[in-house]
Amino acid sequence: MALTQDDLKRAVAQAAIAYVPDDCIVGVGTGSTANFFIDELAKIKNRIRAAVASSEASAKRLQGHGIEVLSLNEAGDLPVYVDGADEITRHMHMVKGGGGALTREKIVAAASKKFICVCDASKLVDVLGKFPLPIEVIPMARSYVAREVVKLGGQPVLREGFTTDNGNVILDVHNLQIMNPVELESALNQLAGVVTNGLFARRGADVLLLGTPDGVQTLTA
Ligand code: 5RP
Repeated sequence: MALTQDDLKRAVAQAAIAYVPDDCIVGVGTGSTANFFIDELAKIKNRIRAAVASSEASAKRLQGHGIEVLSLNEAGDLPVYVDGADEITRHMHMVKGGGGALTREKIVAAASKKFICVCDASKLVDVLGKFPLPIEVIPMARSYVAREVVKLGGQPVLREGFTTDNGNVILDVHNLQIMNPVELESALNQLAGVVTNGLFARRGADVLLLGTPDGVQTLTA
C-alpha cells in the first residue's frame, strides 16, 4: 500500500528521536509534523527532563502527554530544537510560519544548538517563495508594512481571523521568488512594525530529516 503524507511525517518524527540526548530539555516546534514528534517524545518521556514549546498549541499537546513544559527563560540554552517547515532548500534555508508560530519558533531555534527539521518530501524546493511568506506584524503597522512589501515585489494578504500567540497579525506574502533569503530576511526585519518574518535563512536547519517513499533521508548543512 502506498505511504500517505502522514506516514512520511510519522517516519521523520520517529527518526528525530535519535537526536534527543538523555536528560535534556527539548525544543519543540509547531504544526502537524511537530505533533507527530510530540507523540513520539511521549514514548520516551522518562528519559527527558522537560520541553520548551514554540506555541500554546504545542505546549498543550506536550502537557496532555504528561511532559513538563518550561518557559525558555527558565530553561536557558537548549541542545536541540525539532520542527517542521513549509519549504526548505538543500542549503537548509526555510520558509516557516504556515501555522502562525514563526516568532516563537525563531526564538526557540535561536536558543538551540541544533535545529532538526522534519519534513515530508513535498517540502524540499530549489527556490523558496511558492509557499506564501508569513510576516508577523504589530496590528497598527499592518497597512504600512503591506505597502512596503509591495515595493519589494510581493503581494501581501492579511490572514483573516487569525491572531498570533503574541497578539499580532500575519501578512502572507505571495508571488516572491526568493533568490537571496538571507538578504530578504534581514530587509523585512528592518521594516518598522515587523516582529518576525518566516524566512529562517540566517539561522537555518542543521539537519534535515526528509520523509520519502524510499525511507527517511538525512541531509546536513
Ligand atoms: C508553524 C510552522 C510549521 O513548521 C510549518 O507550517 C509546517 O507545518 P506542517 O508540519 O503542518 O506541514 O512553521 O508555524
